[in-house]
Amino acid sequence: MPNPEGATAPATLTYEGTTLELPVVRPTLGRTALDISAIGLKGLSVLDPGYADTAAYQSAITFVDGEEGRLYYRGYPVEQLATSTSFLDVAYLLINGELPTAQAADEFTGRVRDPKMVLHVGIERLFDAFPQSMHPMAMLAIATEALSAYADDGAKPDSPAGVQQAGVRLLSAMPIFTGYALSTVRGLPRGKSNRSLDYAEDLLQLCFAIPGSDHLPDNVTARALNTLLVLHADHELNCSTATLRMVASSGAGFYAGVSAAINALWGPLHGGANQEVIKMLQEIKESGRPLSYFIDKAKDKNDPFRLMGFGHRVYKTTDARAKVIRNIALDLVEKLAPQDPLLDIALDLEEVALADEYFISRRLYPNVDFYSGVIYRAIGFPDEMFTPLFVAGRTAGWVAHWLEMTSSSAKRIGRPTQIYTGPTERPVPKNRHEAAS
Ligand code: SDX
Repeated sequence: MPNPEGATAPATLTYEGTTLELPVVRPTLGRTALDISAIGLKGLSVLDPGYADTAAYQSAITFVDGEEGRLYYRGYPVEQLATSTSFLDVAYLLINGELPTAQAADEFTGRVRDPKMVLHVGIERLFDAFPQSMHPMAMLAIATEALSAYADDGAKPDSPAGVQQAGVRLLSAMPIFTGYALSTVRGLPRGKSNRSLDYAEDLLQLCFAIPGSDHLPDNVTARALNTLLVLHADHELNCSTATLRMVASSGAGFYAGVSAAINALWGPLHGGANQEVIKMLQEIKESGRPLSYFIDKAKDKNDPFRLMGFGHRVYKTTDARAKVIRNIALDLVEKLAPQDPLLDIALDLEEVALADEYFISRRLYPNVDFYSGVIYRAIGFPDEMFTPLFVAGRTAGWVAHWLEMTSSSAKRIGRPTQIYTGPTERPVPKNRHEAAS
């Protein structure tokens, strides 16, 4: 247990005349934790809805400074990585803990972009079976799980090298899955991966090239997508990454864990928020109502309406990523979709909300999802493809967390307890049918 500045006196908890000592666990950055294992021995537990104040694992991958709005991948500020580093170099950093040397980068990129690492025909046929109406997140979750049947690294890589290989395979497949999902949604023939392009370029051409044409994405869009993939690559123990680790803790397979994480990310309060933001901006545009009408709805406890893309469990100021994404949105939307009014609505909404006491007092600021959707829309992606693009970036973090979790000697199966509120023991009535009539 890292206690970089040396052990400190334990905290004490006194309850019903008994005093318990709770060891202090100090991180290199962030909140100090109390090891509460001792309270279980006294028949006590802690209640922490949504695990807001529970450190479930120790991790060295990513640190989010919510107070300052900073995000670090293995200690490097994300805003420095986002505009200067390829997505695969950032994936290498997250997985291995250090930025790659030129040689290591060539080797890793060569493995992920290996033309011989093609999808099994069985997975191609899977996409043939998907109806056009299927949400692309379902397609990604199913195709990822299906890799466990076709990948020669097996469903359950049981060594760090095996996990690394499975991670390379998944990173190699994700742009293809994303392009295939879009082709299915659009009812178009599927494209072919062009391994001579970089990751972002290939993802774009898989999504937008007419199969057989030599359409190449423009450099500005490809660079913007690379930045978005980097910004979405990891974010500590968010809902979907915690889900991945929960699956890893039972000893299930890597692809099963990522498939579960994809499904958790799909939720509108999590990764699905980028799609919900666009729906909200369109509703505002079509309603003809003033922004204040929607701000009031968001503040009304009796109204389920939320300002999508606003608020965060950890950030109590603007999300580090939102600042970078906002600048990309201002630049790219101007170039690619100047006629689209949604960005202006988003900018006005942000201005009104950030001046409103309700949002100020609750420290609710734009998060990573607030501006990403307008960018994807400007590039030409339909709304349902926004969260799959989140998956394409987050896959790197999921590989890193799976490797860290399965390499840890301290792993235990995840099994939270509960506060039981149901009935106490009662006998089953003998003649219950009569009693019921
Ligand atoms: C992501 O965890 C991660 O790291 C996730 C992520 C990642 O990279 O993996 O960053 C990606 O999921 C970003 C979040 C995307 N989701 C949204 O944009 C959905 C809208 N946001 C909210 O639903 C909410 O802010 C959450 C879900 C993001 C956070 O919820 P919390 O931490 O449980 O906070 P809460 O619901 O308890 O809110 C605290 C207060 C409440 O008011 P009070 O009861 O105190 O009066 O703030 C209010 C909430 O009603 N509130 C909002 C609001 N978000 C919180 N009110 C209006 N609009 C909102 N968006």
